[in-house]
Parts: sequence; C-alpha cells; structure tokens
Amino acid sequence: MLAAYTELRYAEKVKQFLLKKGLLHQDHLPVKELDHIFFAMHKKVTVPNAKVVNTKFSFPERQKPTTVDQLLKGKLTAKELELLPRTQELVGEILILEIPNELKKKENIIAEAYLKVNKQVSTVVKKSDSHSGQFRTRKVTVLAGNKTKETIHRENGIELKLHLEKTYFSARTGSERLRIAKLVKPGEEVLVMFSGAAPFPLVIAKNSEARHIYGVELNPDAHTYAMENVLLNDLQDKITIIHGDVKHKIPPLKKKFDRIAMPLPKTGEQFLDLALLKVKKGGFIHLYAFLDEKDIDPYAKKIREICKKLGYSIKVSRKVKCGQFSPGVFRVCLDLKLL
Ligand SMILES: C[S@@+](CC[C@H](N)C(=O)[O-])C[C@H]1O[C@@H](n2cnc3c(N)ncnc32)[C@H](O)[C@@H]1O
Repeated sequence: MLAAYTELRYAEKVKQFLLKKGLLHQDHLPVKELDHIFFAMHKKVTVPNAKVVNTKFSFPERQKPTTVDQLLKGKLTAKELELLPRTQELVGEILILEIPNELKKKENIIAEAYLKVNKQVSTVVKKSDSHSGQFRTRKVTVLAGNKTKETIHRENGIELKLHLEKTYFSARTGSERLRIAKLVKPGEEVLVMFSGAAPFPLVIAKNSEARHIYGVELNPDAHTYAMENVLLNDLQDKITIIHGDVKHKIPPLKKKFDRIAMPLPKTGEQFLDLALLKVKKGGFIHLYAFLDEKDIDPYAKKIREICKKLGYSIKVSRKVKCGQFSPGVFRVCLDLKLL
C-alpha cells in the first residue's frame, strides 16, 4: 500500500502536510516501526521530510464511530451525554428526536450525529409540541439532513406517504395495526373511524382477507394522503376512503360492519353510540383510550355500562396494552363484542 515513511520526529509535520493536501488515507491507522512511522496515502506525490514507499503489509482499519455517544464524545460533557434522547421514532426516513431543554444549544450537533450513525435516516427533526387539536397534528423542526417533513413509511407490507405536520401518524403502533388485521376473518367488512393517512385500512387490506375496508377522516390533508396511499399500494378495489366527520358520514351508510376500529384514544368513546349503531351482532369494536394501569378495569366496566344504557349488551373480550403514552399511562385497546 502507498505510504509516506518518516522518522518519528517528523511525524506531526508529515501528517499535517498529508492532511492539508488531502493525501492522507483516513480510514487507515498509521503504523510505527522502531523510530519510524508509515502514513497510508491516496496518491504518489513527493512529501517533504518523508520517503514515499509501497508497503508489503496492509494498514489496520480505523474504527469508525458507530454510536451517537462515540461521535459526540468531546462535544458534549459526560453529564450532557447522559441526557441524550434514548427514545426516538423513525417515520420513513425521518428520525424524530425528543431533545431535553438542557441540550437545546447543542441540538444541531446532536442531530448531525444521529444522521451520521443511522444509514436509513435522511432527515432528523425534533418534536416542537405534542399532538393536539381535532386533527391530532403537531409541529416538528428540521435539525439535520434534507429539509423535508414528508416521507414514505414502510410497515407490515404497506407504503404510507405522509407529512409529519399535516397528518397524525405514529410508527409505534404498527404492531397493533397488524394485531387488528390478524383478527379479521375472510369476507369481513371493516370500518375504520378516524382513518388518518389510512395506515389501519392499508394494513388490514394487505394482511387479511377482508372483503372491503372503509375509512372516514375529517382532516382534508390526511384524507388526500389516504387517497394517494390507497393508489400507491394498489388497494383501490379493497378500500374506500370517505372525507368528513364520522357523525355525518357514518349514519347514512346503508350497511353494518363486522368490525369497527376507533383509533382516537383521547375522545373516541364519545363516538361509541355511532359504532354500536353500525356494528353487526357478534361483530367487534376496537376502542382505544389512554389509561393508567389501575384505570383499565374500571374503564372497561364504565364502557360496558355506557353500552347497556344505550341498549346494547357487549362483552369486553380483551384489554390490550398497545403502547406507552407517558410514564405509567398506556394506549389501551378494548376489544368489544356485541352480543
Ligand atoms: C389519533 S389520529 C389516528 C389516525 C390514524 N388512524 C392513524 O392511526 O395514524 C385520529 C384522527 O381522527 C381524525 N378525526 C378527529 N375527529 C374526527 C371526526 N369527528 N370525524 C372523522 N375524523 C376525525 C383526526 O383528524 C385524526 O386524523
């Protein structure tokens, strides 16, 4: 291998020369031999204070930093390193970081480190606030990489195009979407209330033998992405997406469903009467809520009572913890069977 061979006393000078001229092979470590040293080089060029030689041995590879901590060592104090965000969400090629206030001044170098270490990431953003409002959207700020907030997320055999600020999406609930899809029996007709950019309808269509899946979504941007996603996945024969408020769009539908998913954990139960109206006898409703561990059983009891008051008898066939909302608070799905 091509190398600059010099006495140790000239080592620093030679190294600086090679660096300045872009000649130093930085993937390789220098090799010492008694009071001499070899620096691996890219090109045969005369080097002051050194002989340019062809070595018979190969140089040891320089270990590339493989973790964010390694990359940030020296740029962050030990205390700051401890505060690095340990939970991140990857949506398509966008990594979403939660940066603590104490690290705000260093958020850009932190984001650059995450970008460098994760090959599948092309943009790093930070959450600027939590999901809010009727559309459950949130703001994010691009910290590193491509300045885009739109991406294509892949999960459970589907592709989902979405914009992080214009439509709600959580990559963390992918396994719950698959759980629901696996419950669907051949020939079922499924309704997804609050369908967003259509992750539930798509995952169900792709992973079950449902006859047809309907989605209803209020947010016009989410609806537009949903329509595009149905085409993107070539599932237009199996999925119908309706734009509007479930309160107005569902009652006129002249059909009942074998299964209804209600992925709106904050206020979903307000729409339970609608779901009960449209689910077939023996069919299922999947109702989502954010609950403290100790509140899960009382909540199930409360839902049974609400249904009873509305004139329906239901069985809570399963209570599934399908994610964590905050410390001690879970995203819970109640699988309700209409008796
Ligand atoms: C928590 S998000 C879930 C979106 C999607 N199902 C997902 O898992 O990514 C709830 C969605 O319900 C929609 N939404 C809220 N109220 C609605 C209503 N009354 N009718 C239809 N959609 C509604 C919001 O716009 C939002 O997209």
